[in-house]
Parts: sequence; C-alpha cells; structure tokens
Amino acid sequence: MPALPFPAIGLALAIGVGAAWHAFCKRPPFWITQLDAFGMARVGKKIPGTAVVCGGSAAGIITARVCADHFERVVVVDPEVADADKRKTRVLQYNASHIFLTIFVNAARRLWPDFNAEVLGAGGKDVVSDFQIHYAGLGPVPSPRRDKTLMASRRTMQTALNRLLLRDSRISVVSGTVRGLISSEDKRTVVSVDVRKLDGTQLSLNDVALVVDCTGRTHAGFKWLQSAGYAVTDDIRATYEGNLRYLTITCTVPPALAARLPIPSQNLETSVIYACVPEDDTAAQLVAMFKTGPEEFLIGFTDTAGVELPRTPEEAMLFIAGFRGLRRPIPTWVIETIGILCEDGQPSFDNIALTTLSYLQYHKLPRGTLPANFVAVGDSVMTLNPIHGQGFSKSMLNAIVLNTLLHEVPATVPANFADNYFRRSAGPQNSLWDSTRLNDYNNTACQPMKGETKQTGAVMRWLSMKVLSAAMKYDDVAVALWDVRHLLVDERALLAPTILAKILWTRSLFA
Ligand SMILES: Cc1cc2nc3c(=O)[nH]c(=O)nc-3n(C[C@H](O)[C@H](O)[C@H](O)COP(=O)(O)OP(=O)(O)OC[C@H]3O[C@@H](n4cnc5c(N)ncnc54)[C@H](O)[C@@H]3O)c2cc1C
Ligand SMILES: *[C@@H]1O[C@H](CO)[C@@H](O)[C@H](O)[C@H]1NC(C)=O
Ligand SMILES: *[C@@H]1O[C@H](CO)[C@@H](O)[C@H](O)[C@H]1NC(C)=O
Repeated sequence: MPALPFPAIGLALAIGVGAAWHAFCKRPPFWITQLDAFGMARVGKKIPGTAVVCGGSAAGIITARVCADHFERVVVVDPEVADADKRKTRVLQYNASHIFLTIFVNAARRLWPDFNAEVLGAGGKDVVSDFQIHYAGLGPVPSPRRDKTLMASRRTMQTALNRLLLRDSRISVVSGTVRGLISSEDKRTVVSVDVRKLDGTQLSLNDVALVVDCTGRTHAGFKWLQSAGYAVTDDIRATYEGNLRYLTITCTVPPALAARLPIPSQNLETSVIYACVPEDDTAAQLVAMFKTGPEEFLIGFTDTAGVELPRTPEEAMLFIAGFRGLRRPIPTWVIETIGILCEDGQPSFDNIALTTLSYLQYHKLPRGTLPANFVAVGDSVMTLNPIHGQGFSKSMLNAIVLNTLLHEVPATVPANFADNYFRRSAGPQNSLWDSTRLNDYNNTACQPMKGETKQTGAVMRWLSMKVLSAAMKYDDVAVALWDVRHLLVDERALLAPTILAKILWTRSLFA
C-alpha cells in the first residue's frame, strides 16, 4: 500500500543539508500548485474540433472532464461506458479492492463539486484517511492527518465517476471500440479516429483536435501509432516481471451479521480496517480488510512469492493462520472477523495474476516522433504494483499536466504539444515507477528489469525501513511520510534536514 520510494536519498546525503535544502524540500510539487486551475474552464474561445477520448474507465472519465473545459466537443469511445450502473467486464481489476489516495480525492472534488455526494450515493463511505498499516505486526504507522476522505469498492467508485460523466452535457459517448488512427499526410497530427460500434457498424470520428489513449493495460494507443507508421519503437517499453497475485474476497454483511463482528468501532471509521505487511520476503505480502459501503466488506490478500492464493473459505483461513514474517501476531479480532465473513458473508473470490508491469516511456522518443495531438493517460502509459494504491492518482497527475498545458496553448493544439505533455509527465511517473519497482525487487518471485539485478535499490529499501521506523516514533516524520504516500508532496520532503536527521538516527525496527 504505502510507497517507500526515495532513490534520491543517497544523492541528498552526498550534497549535504542546509537552509536552502530545507526550502527546496518543502516546496510543493508542480502538480499541487497546478491544482488551482484544475477544473476551471478556459477563458475565451474553446479550442475548435473534437477531443476524442479512447476508453471510458477511470482515466477516460477524468480526461474527458478536463477536455470539456477546453474543447468545443468531447467524445468518449468505450464499449461499456453508456450505462453507468452496469457491471464492467473489460476492466480486469473491477472486483479488486482499491484504496484512494488523498491527491485523487482532492483533485476529483475540484473536477466535480458534487463528487462526495455522488460516491456516497453510489454506495461508498465517508471515512477518516488512515490505512491502519502494520509492518510485521508492529504499528500502525500513524496517520497524523485526519482528513475526511472516501472509501468505496472499485465498482462503486467507477459507477460514481461514470454517472458524473453521463451527466455532463458537454461530453458525448459512443458505445464502441477504437480500431485505429488516421494521420494527416505530413504525419504531424491525427485527423481521424476509426471506431467499430457495438452494432458492428464503422464510424469515423473526424475533425480531431486531440486524441487521448485511455485504454488501460492493453496499451492500444501504442499499437495504433505503430500501425499508422509512427516510429514508436519497442525499446521505449520498460518492463519487469512482478509476478504478483492479488485476491479480493467481497462479502455481503447485513446489519445482523455486522453486529457479530468483533471490530473495534474506531476501525470502522478509517479507510482501512486493518492491514499488515510481513517482514521482507515471506510468501504473503499483505492481508487487509475494508468496509466499503453500508453492507459490504472486502478482504484482500496478496502474494509475491509465486504461491497460489486461496479460492475457498477454508483455504483463506489456512492462509491467514500460516501468515509468516511477524514480530507481533495479527490481532485475534482480525482473524475472527475474517472467519465470520468467510463463513456467513457470502464470500465471492476474485483472483488476479499480474505478471508483467510496464511503462511506455513516450518521453524518450525524439521530439517530433509522435503526432502533435496524441497523448495517453493512466494505465495506458504505465502499470504499477497496485499495492500502493496509486492507479487512480496517477491518472490525476497526468490530467493535471494535460489541463495546465491546455490552459497555456492558444487557439489550437501546437506542434510540440505531445512532446511537452510526455516530458512534463515524466518526473512524477518516473518516481512512481522507480520507487515501486525497486521496492518489488525484494520479492521472491520478482524478475528485475533488463540491466538490473535484485540488488538494485538495496540502499533505498534499507532507508525505507528506517523511514518507517522513524515514522512510528516521530510525528513530523509520520506527517512527511503520509504526505509522500498520498502524493501531496514530492519524495524529497523526507530529505528536509530535521526529517532526514531523525530517519538516519532511528534504528530500523526491521531487517
Ligand atoms: C489488482 C489491482 C488493484 C488495484 N488497486 C488500486 C488501488 O487500490 N488504488 C488505485 O488507485 N488503483 C488501483 N489499481 C490500479 C487502477 O485500477 C488502475 O490504475 C485504473 O483502473 C486505471 O484506469 P484506466 O482508465 O487507465 O484503465 P482501465 O480501468 O483498465 O480501463 C480501460 C478502459 O479502456 C477501454 N478500452 C480498451 N480498449 C479500448 C478500445 N480499443 N477502444 C475503446 N475503449 C477501449 C476498456 O473498455 C476500459 O473501460 C489496482 C489495479 C489492480 C490490477
Ligand atoms: C466480478 O465478479 C462478478 C461476480 O462474482 C463476476 O460475475 C465478474 O465476472 C467479475 N468481473 C471480473 C472483471 O472479474
Ligand atoms: C530482501 O531484503 C533482505 C534484507 O536486505 C534480504 O536479506 C533478502 O534476501 C531480500 N530478499 C530477496 C528475495 O531479495
């Protein structure tokens, strides 16, 4: 769940600390200062033409909302977007437990003033932001900011976003699949998008001002560009084999059953009821429990050692009993609750295997390679180990960059638009990719990226353990870590002199 990043720490040590360093570390990152203009319609005439958003899940909906502030017309193409309340079948992680970082919730509230009401209306829950995360049974790591945030199942969150999309009269939707892009003769721009509608008929969306790939992990945009003859070469794709397994057990809990659960009442008011990560490389990476709505509880297990996760209630109880790598046992109320939920909560098991994680580094292409009006948002650029809960927030960071650039551009999308978009997005993307990847190298089943070994990032991982240990001891370190995890500050916030001193001073609680 929490990101434990900071390859920059070694660098900071070399440079030393001082007042200027302090100011630098405290400076808000660009995506926070740029939130002011997020959700604000452009002043003056809109950009002529149509923004075509390919894919209408989290990234597509956020992108379409931003584009509506800038373009005369916005169209979202997705086979499943027309009915907000219908179960999505094409989103692999539709039944997977999700957490939502503060950056996502704050940014969504700017895009949609009624975001809170919509999520609650779709079946979500008002909570205090606190992941109740334990390491090796120790903790929880304090969540010093008691912000009000939202918890929901992925399904509920997607329904809420989809309803908001359909209510926006500036945006239209097409039920269909994008098949490819047609470029101008000089290849400088995309002029038309080919769609196959659900009824089998073809549709050409012409007059394209901007085309956005929001097709998620299929990375369809990359293939469309290659088919259209652009030199987007395979070497921009960075990959490693995370070999992760992810299980979500969804339980239905009417009031009479809820009354039997031995959960301390304050744990029902936080984003997560209980979560525990074992020490280093044991088989089970996480156990977590969530209340996601009035009558819905989720249990999440992950594995990073190539071990199959449970598929039945009996196996689930064996799994939790065999949980290793603990300094202090998982509380009995957690185990009892899981037992009751598995027995009487009509548990539904959803097992996902995530083998390859990948990052399309469009920013590495020579300038002018891409059509000027092509960008990509969300998982279509990068898939991360989901344990840190950054997916929805990552789409927001992309959308903030897009919005700022659009506010800067004059009447039409200029020739350097795509290059600028991907280059500006690269900073936060790289830091998410590096920190989660290097963290994963400590997992038994993980296979590193080409040119790296499982040793790569060892110093960062060692420091991460010291950060955690210091956060359990010092409030200001806990605040800095909380802010880093929620992407409210840059990871360099942990390098501010007073914070760094405590991190280095504190003996690690963990190996
Ligand atoms: C197990 C798991 C757990 C996760 N947990 C969290 C979490 O706790 N917190 C968090 O923030 N994130 C989490 N994530 C990540 C998060 O789910 C993703 O980042 C997010 O769904 C990405 O949204 P997206 O819109 O980019 O892609 P997707 O949600 O995958 O949607 C892609 C959309 O594109 C459409 N599409 C595909 N091809 C075409 C085409 N050719 N034409 C038109 N439409 C097309 C599909 O129909 C679909 O609607 C998790 C991911 C996984 C796998
Ligand atoms: C989600 O769960 C439902 C109910 O168990 C199931 O029918 C559906 O296929 C699942 N969806 C995905 C994408 O796995
Ligand atoms: C994980 O890190 C610990 C501490 O450095 C090390 O002892 C262990 O071997 C590592 N595990 C793997 C699978 O790399």
